[in-house]
Amino acid sequence: MTSMIGRAHDSRVRPGQVRDAVIAVLAQSRQSNLSLKEIEYGVRAIVGNTVASSSIRSSLNLHERDLITRVGRGQYALTARMRSVDQPAFEYKDVQLFQDDCLAWLARQPTNSVHAVVTDPPYGASEYSAKEQAKLRNGTGGLWRIPPTLDGVRRSPVPRFTTLTDSDLHSIQEFFMEWSRAILRVLVPGANVVVAANPLVSHVVSMALSDGGLERRGEIIRLVQTLRGGDRPKGAHEEFPDVSVMPRSQWEPWLLYRKPLSGSVAENLRTWGTGGFRRISAERPFGDVIKGPPTRSRERSIAPHPSLKPQAFLRQVVHAALPLGTGVVLDPFAGSGSTLAAAQAVGYRSIGVERDPDYVGVAREAIPALSKLRVTVSED
Ligand SMILES: C[S@@+](CC[C@H](N)C(=O)[O-])C[C@H]1O[C@@H](n2cnc3c(N)ncnc32)[C@H](O)[C@@H]1O
Repeated sequence: MTSMIGRAHDSRVRPGQVRDAVIAVLAQSRQSNLSLKEIEYGVRAIVGNTVASSSIRSSLNLHERDLITRVGRGQYALTARMRSVDQPAFEYKDVQLFQDDCLAWLARQPTNSVHAVVTDPPYGASEYSAKEQAKLRNGTGGLWRIPPTLDGVRRSPVPRFTTLTDSDLHSIQEFFMEWSRAILRVLVPGANVVVAANPLVSHVVSMALSDGGLERRGEIIRLVQTLRGGDRPKGAHEEFPDVSVMPRSQWEPWLLYRKPLSGSVAENLRTWGTGGFRRISAERPFGDVIKGPPTRSRERSIAPHPSLKPQAFLRQVVHAALPLGTGVVLDPFAGSGSTLAAAQAVGYRSIGVERDPDYVGVAREAIPALSKLRVTVSED
């Protein structure tokens, strides 16, 4: 199944691909309108030379009236609605952040245009739904729980994953399979895809990514003291003082995938600039166990997002994700923009997508500040 989906995306025109390419060509042009010839040229550069002119013309004339408009003889432009959709919510140096649903945004992007993905998606299907976010912001619980106070310090809420039902797990699987297919098309061959997970759902997410056509390459283990697990049985603490229901979790898996290579690693590196990991130094390859403290309170105050990841960890992963240090890193679940800030700090171009307007507002303030922070990276 995996290779069939991969081949279909690369060598055949899938339904909607010409339309997506037409939109991408118009969206990426510096001119507000383009001639049919210019559009045909751009579409063929994305989809391939075999696309018939009639198919490009029918995308322009027949079906897409609310997306594309004819502005003069043989001249086309995106409608005002589409132009506003494809404007970033903000830009800072080499960072662009779009406010959108990532699946909708991905569907409008050109094929083979992203060189790496580093992302921390919603682990459950619903902790970032409008309903659960309202409960979190009102402090009324739901899927978010406040961990017990530790040494007198009040802890931030974390989502509950032990309450996920079979049907929740099924929704997670369906979502990540669709996401994997959508991302596969926009990635260049050999692009790395690094996805944060947790030990309770990583098996489901991992299967879905493989089923969607991505190639599994292992996991990065983030060694970190978390507040998950280690609790005594609910309502029976004193009866079973020597028992904890689950081990205290001290690591976090980050799933490692890539879009299958085209040719050998060396050929792929030459053509696309991808197909491996950037070394830490001539003597040290990038390793798959990264040790570090939880996100520091300084970063939390800059970027108040409940799932904020630390710069010290993200900068190491983002740096490694582009083997030659060139290309674009995408975070389709950008949250407060910590991955984008890490990319800016290591000198890479990056694009983020975040659905929630409140977090886009957080990211707008946080990215410049996080990217300038001096952080120490553990050497062991
Ligand atoms: C786990 S958080 C990422 C936090 C991020 N690592 C940080 O450090 O701020 C996941 C984010 O994805 C967003 N999100 C959820 N579903 C989305 C979707 N379909 N498209 C875009 N963003 C989405 C949520 O609003 C949330 O901010």
